[in-house]
Amino acid sequence: MTVTHTTGTESTDTIDTNVTVRAGDWVDTGPGLDDLIGNYRMQIPTDRYVSADYAAREREAVWMRTWQVAGRLDEIPDSGDWKQYSIYDQSFLIVRGRDGVVRGFVNACRHRGNVLCRDNTGNTARFVCPYHLWSYDLEGSLRGVARPDLVGDLDKEQHGLLAVAVDSFAGFVFLNPDPDAVPLAEFLGTDAYELIEAYHLDDMVTVLDVREAVDCNWKIVVDAFQEGYHIQAIHPELLKVIVLDPTTNRFRFWGDHEVAVAPFVVPNATPDDELDGLRQLPNTFPTVTGYLPRLEELAEQHRGDDGQLHYPDGVTGRTLLQQATRETLTDMGFDVDGLTDAQMTDNHGWLLFPNFFMTIRAAEATVITSIPHPDGDPNRCIWHIRSFMWLPEEYRADFRAAPIEVDEPGSYPYFLALQQDYEQMPRQQRGLRNRRIEHISLVHEELSVARFHASLDRHMGEQR
Ligand code: FES
Ligand SMILES: [Fe+2]
Repeated sequence: MTVTHTTGTESTDTIDTNVTVRAGDWVDTGPGLDDLIGNYRMQIPTDRYVSADYAAREREAVWMRTWQVAGRLDEIPDSGDWKQYSIYDQSFLIVRGRDGVVRGFVNACRHRGNVLCRDNTGNTARFVCPYHLWSYDLEGSLRGVARPDLVGDLDKEQHGLLAVAVDSFAGFVFLNPDPDAVPLAEFLGTDAYELIEAYHLDDMVTVLDVREAVDCNWKIVVDAFQEGYHIQAIHPELLKVIVLDPTTNRFRFWGDHEVAVAPFVVPNATPDDELDGLRQLPNTFPTVTGYLPRLEELAEQHRGDDGQLHYPDGVTGRTLLQQATRETLTDMGFDVDGLTDAQMTDNHGWLLFPNFFMTIRAAEATVITSIPHPDGDPNRCIWHIRSFMWLPEEYRADFRAAPIEVDEPGSYPYFLALQQDYEQMPRQQRGLRNRRIEHISLVHEELSVARFHASLDRHMGEQR
């Protein structure tokens, strides 16, 4: 699929609007750091990470008023399936109705306010309040009351469950607690829909789903995934497959959201060394294993009489891996037509404000969200790690992961890079709790962090 791009007023790309391009090209040809730096405040006050007062204001200005990920559509595939989503002490039910439509309701009975569902998930034909047995259908209408003869005048029409805004994007259910919420599509913007379409993320299977309380503010998590500046210290293994050259970073900004890319390259290598480097990739990116057999075949076609690889102009290990990935996925039945060659190898890093971070490339994605801890302590959050893969139908059931709630800190073995981040984040929070540190200072490479905080300031009503 290709799309003809028309520029929105907030877009910062430089693409000729008459050219038909794949949406992924918008990012690769987007502006770089030098074009964008200077637009954002780089000194960020620290009270937003540690202050109870800031957290209380943030709760109202951001969390009670913004669209946020509440689950996946495939968690509630059938009529009557429901799940609970909570933010702070606010609890909501997300329900698939008899008509297949997904709706959201406040998780409280309209009689005397009792919590309707205490479990996290279930399937039912009706919600029956355990206190006095009022019952509601899947569309939220009050259907039955116990001992109706004693109830007196009661307009059932006026006592249905309170609706809350829910909608979906790329297979995710989003929810907004605000009764006056703008539509999700307006909040996300057309760029989000056009950029995501070719990945078929709505058709991917959840292969990892872990939630855990972490001793840091939710924004420490969002910040950390938006910069590569900490790679050399925290993830030294990644240096083998990532060039730390911020001048190659490209950005697509719209609204409060963004996609950034740091092209994937094995650094400073002869063709043979590069191929060796690519063979090591599965240590960091396990799914590359599936593309290596075809990569080996493609590379061998360029082996000379001297036993060395000699690529013609325009061919590199990177382009061969892209070709191998495209061909292998096509053989598996995955539609790669709308994806660029770069999207075969390069992870795009998404941030949908406020807390949806995603890294995505052909046939796989990892989404990391963090929300404030329900106890309201700004020094704690809940992070939620979800990975997705596109798989042929016959493998999906076997690979689908059940959700894991980690109760004992440190007991869950995250994959290496994530484990390193998990251990790092509380250390930053501990430092930020020192009262004498009043602001942090971002470097150019942390542009996306600066932009995120500018968006936060806007939502908090604090213009820079
Ligand atoms: S509070 Fe639910 S039926 Fe009374
Ligand atoms: Fe990291």
